Amino acid sequence: MEKVLSLILAAGKGTRMKSDLIKVLHNVGGKSMIQHVVDNVMDFSSRIAVVIGYQGEKVKKSIDSDKEVSFYYQEEQLGTGHAVLQAKKELEEFDGTVLVLFGDTPLLREESLKRLFKKHQEEKAACTVMTAIVENPGSYGRIIRDDDNNLTAIVEEKDASPAEKRIREINTGVCVFKSNLLLEALDNIDNDNAQGEYYLTDAIAYLSQRNSKVLPLIIEDNREIIGINDRVNLAKAEKVIRERTNIYHMNNGVTIIDPDNTYIDSLVEIGQDTVIYPYTYIEGNSKIASNTIIASHCRIVNSQIGNNANINDHCIITDSSLKNRVNIGPFAYIRPGCMVEDDAKVGDFVELKKASIGVGTKVPHLSYVGDANIGTGTNIGAGTITANYDGENKHKTSIGNDVFIGSNTTLIAPVNVGNRGRTGAGSVVTKDIDEETTVLGVPARKYEKNKN
Ligand code: UD1
Ligand code: MG
Repeated sequence: MEKVLSLILAAGKGTRMKSDLIKVLHNVGGKSMIQHVVDNVMDFSSRIAVVIGYQGEKVKKSIDSDKEVSFYYQEEQLGTGHAVLQAKKELEEFDGTVLVLFGDTPLLREESLKRLFKKHQEEKAACTVMTAIVENPGSYGRIIRDDDNNLTAIVEEKDASPAEKRIREINTGVCVFKSNLLLEALDNIDNDNAQGEYYLTDAIAYLSQRNSKVLPLIIEDNREIIGINDRVNLAKAEKVIRERTNIYHMNNGVTIIDPDNTYIDSLVEIGQDTVIYPYTYIEGNSKIASNTIIASHCRIVNSQIGNNANINDHCIITDSSLKNRVNIGPFAYIRPGCMVEDDAKVGDFVELKKASIGVGTKVPHLSYVGDANIGTGTNIGAGTITANYDGENKHKTSIGNDVFIGSNTTLIAPVNVGNRGRTGAGSVVTKDIDEETTVLGVPARKYEKNKN
């Protein structure tokens, strides 16, 4: 394949989103629109350039790419043709195929773009435009063909005659050019139109009028060209991406019981034979290993879960790492910074925050464990609280191995419990507990059998 420069236009604010955030930074399927577009062109592009404007610095910082991306600033949004011209320097230095696409069209698949290149190269065209046949052409540019099916012009809705408005073939905004011809065409467009803008579509018409070959290629799946202009489009796009993501995981051996009601972000990884129940959200960079069950109504954000784990219904797990065979919930709330080691249990109505729970340790019910480290093989009775906050500062609790904390114990941090230490039910622990020592009462005192 010839060298490809992908040029992504993303300078516009996106007024119809009614948002303080630039349109292309809105998320679809857990990833910004612009990032989807960058990812879609990553494999075949020899260079990637993005035209930025409104909130340009933010857009620039947000992009994550294996390849170098160059940015061109468009001060005023004077039209799509004007936007392409901002990258003139890059275009002048480049000899090959230029793909122009919009930052607000994240659903386009790599396969479709490759089809476009194929036609463009096989037919030795000057320009090939991705088009679509739609029921309701709305505000899209209309495609004008001649008798030989060459594309002769694209007329914007606002400039179209009533007859042109009835045309159902529309411009998707995705097109490829021979780099030298694109430059020549852009030098020959003006802004004499209803919007007073420099239209990229006029550059396409210019080439056709100069007898260069300009071809339309109709996309196979119209859903790919959804251009996101408002929040209604955003929700439609979200649904398409979600469906694709779920199909991808099912094809990899993940059981998704009800794909219409399961919400998995684009970057999530899931191992084989894991089962996901409905109404579950798995977000961000989460990784779920194999043979694990995620029951219904869970929300897992930027977290890792090991093999053969059981996440019962209604759990929220954020920025945490849970190892193999853990048993979590129902109704567990695992806040950022937690580590739950192999075979541990964090049961119903348990809240963890910045806590590490050792191998085989159990916190079975109704507890708050915050700013705490718990060793291995320990049992934490129901109703246990690590009182980590004195009104001004947070303090740590450290609990050793094979400890037994009686029900309703309050551990006033900072406090340490030695290995095999024990507390009686209802103890309020204000001082460290030595190894192998039992304490009781309020405040808790050492319990010695012979004295009582
Ligand atoms: C454009 C096309 C139209 C096509 C439609 C497909 C033109 C003149 N019209 O119209 O034929 O049917 O897309 O969705 O090309 N942008 C800039 N700088 C500018 C103007 C736009 O960077 O000065 C960027 C926007 O941020 C956006 C993209 O270009 O990502 C498209 O701009 P938009 O205003 O949405 O164009 P449409 O009116 O949708
Ligand atoms: Mg648009």
